[in-house]
Parts: sequence; structure tokens; C-alpha cells
Amino acid sequence: MPELAVVAGATGYVGRYLVRELSDRGYRVRAIVRSRERAEQPGAFGAPSLAGRVEEWCVGDITAPSFVAGTCHGADRVCSALGVTRQKASPWDVDYLANLRLLEEAENASVDSFLFVNVMHAAVGRSLITRSKTAFSEALTRSSTAHQIVNPSAYFSDMSEFLSMARSGFVLLPPGRGVRIAPIHGADLAAYCADRLGDTSGSWDVGGPDVLTFDQVGRLAAAAVGKPCRMIRIPAAAVTAGVWAARRVGGRTAVLAEFLSEGFTRDAIGERWGEHHLEEFFRRSAQEKSA
Ligand SMILES: NC(=O)c1ccc[n+]([C@@H]2O[C@H](COP(=O)([O-])OP(=O)(O)OC[C@H]3O[C@@H](n4cnc5c(N)ncnc54)[C@H](OP(=O)(O)O)[C@@H]3O)[C@@H](O)[C@H]2O)c1
Repeated sequence: MPELAVVAGATGYVGRYLVRELSDRGYRVRAIVRSRERAEQPGAFGAPSLAGRVEEWCVGDITAPSFVAGTCHGADRVCSALGVTRQKASPWDVDYLANLRLLEEAENASVDSFLFVNVMHAAVGRSLITRSKTAFSEALTRSSTAHQIVNPSAYFSDMSEFLSMARSGFVLLPPGRGVRIAPIHGADLAAYCADRLGDTSGSWDVGGPDVLTFDQVGRLAAAAVGKPCRMIRIPAAAVTAGVWAARRVGGRTAVLAEFLSEGFTRDAIGERWGEHHLEEFFRRSAQEKSA
């Protein structure tokens, strides 16, 4: 009988590719989603539909304490790409607490392993997102269940913001001229995660095949859009002031501002992995938009 893998965050950018990859590799997939109807439609940024990929659905709100009961019953593997990005919710409730309840459920169900999609450099971050993820990573590391913690650089989905800016005729660049990232495509990250599934515990930093400065990402976006584009560098003081102002507003604005400002300050590269290149992704996305 093929192994049964539970995927939480299955409707997200990475979660969708993870479900597709696992089903291609012969796993039976149980997907935890808030809406099956949305799951069976194509996702944002080219991410695939889950139609025909899922053997069992668990539909509901994973942040509700009673919901996770039974979600891991009979499963061999659990993978979580669950986390707050654009959603209106507290990262503490989702990235930490919901993942923690899922881990407890996985332990009670004696699954063989638990894989968590984290974010690179989370342990040194001070934003609520990185602190929530680190709190969960620490709980997972203490677990006696075999665990894999995958720490990716930026995703192609997030880089699409540069395309949107380029379409408007300007690209805002973060202050640190030399900071480098290695954006990774969801399909490549899913394959990396699936390769790590198993009984060996560990933590891995991973990025895509191209190491780029934000300036280079901006230029790739401008070239893909094919129209004149101004590059405007945001002064460091403006970022600090923006985070300060966002903290006064509070809520989601503050959470996102703190998280983004962290990402602008240090290289996030990791192991170079994958076949998808950002230049091609931008070119195709720009063509699809103008078609
Ligand atoms: N984006 C990046 O560049 C980047 C880089 C490194 C690491 N990461 C991390 O990688 C993980 C996956 O990222 P992604 O871009 O795939 O994120 P995503 O597209 O926003 O997907 C997140 C998943 O979590 C679920 N979720 C979020 N808030 C929820 C809530 N309140 N209740 C129930 N479900 C909720 C979403 O469900 P719905 O579809 O129903 O909203 C979705 O399935 C995240 O933890 C993210 O922090 C992201």
C-alpha cells in the first residue's frame, strides 16, 4: 500500500506543488484545506489545481483547536506548508499554534515523520512571523518524531511583486545594494522537500539556481515587462520609519513590514537547487498578463 501523506497548507503556493509532487511520486495525499472548491481551482502565480491529486480531504479551520483531531489518523508522513503570508490572521495562531497542534496529533497517531516548510534565517529574525516559525521549529526539533525542517529563500510568487511594480513604470529597491537572494520556484521546492521525506531528521537551507541582488531582480522584471522603468532605491531611514509607522498602525501591516524589512538586510541563498529560472518565470508571467 503506498504511503499516506497529510499536507497542511495545501492550497498555498508551495502546498499545491507539494501535493502535486507527492501524488506524482505515488503517495496517497490527505489535504487539509479551508475550501475544497478553491483547492480544485488553479492557484495564484501559476500554482496547480489539486483536482484529481487528493485521496482524502479534511476541510475546516486548522486554527480551531478541535479541528486537527483525526487528521493524522493512519498517516505515514505529515508535511506542513502552513503559514500566514497575505492572510488576515496572527502568525502566532497559525505558524506556531496550529502547527503545534498538528504535530501533537501526528505524534499521537505515531506518524513516521513531520516535514515543516520554514523560512531561511528565521532563528535570527525578530518579526512575529519569524518568531512564530522559530517557536514551532524548536518544538519540532524536540519531538521524538523524525522531522525535516526546510528553510527556503524567497519564492517566485513573492518576486511577482517586482513585475507588478515594473508594469506601473517604477521598481522600488531595498536599501542594501549588495544583499543577495536565491528565489525558488514552488515546483523545485516541492521536489526538494519530497526528496527529504523519510526517517532522517535535519534542517536544510535551500534556494533556487540563480543568486541575484534585488537590483538584478528589478532589472529582470523591467526587461520582462518591456517598457521603460525607473529604479528607485528606498533609503534605509525610510524603511526604519516605515516599520515604525506600521507598528503604530499595528495588526497585519506591522507584521508584514517587520518581516519584509528583515528580508532586505541579509543574504538568503542556501543550497542552490532547481531547474526554474526567474527570468523565464517573469517572461511567461508578463506574456500571460498581456495576452
Ligand atoms: N513567500 C515566500 O517568499 C516565502 C519564503 C520562505 C518561506 N515562506 C514560508 O513558506 C510557507 C508557505 O508559503 P506560501 O507562499 O506557499 O504561502 P501561502 O500561499 O500563503 O499558503 C499558506 C497556506 O497556509 C494556509 N493558511 C494561512 N493562514 C491560515 C489561517 N488563518 N487558517 C487556515 N489556513 C491558513 C493557507 O490557506 P488558504 O489558502 O485557505 O489561505 C495556505 O494553504 C509559509 O509558512 C511561508 O511563511 C514563504
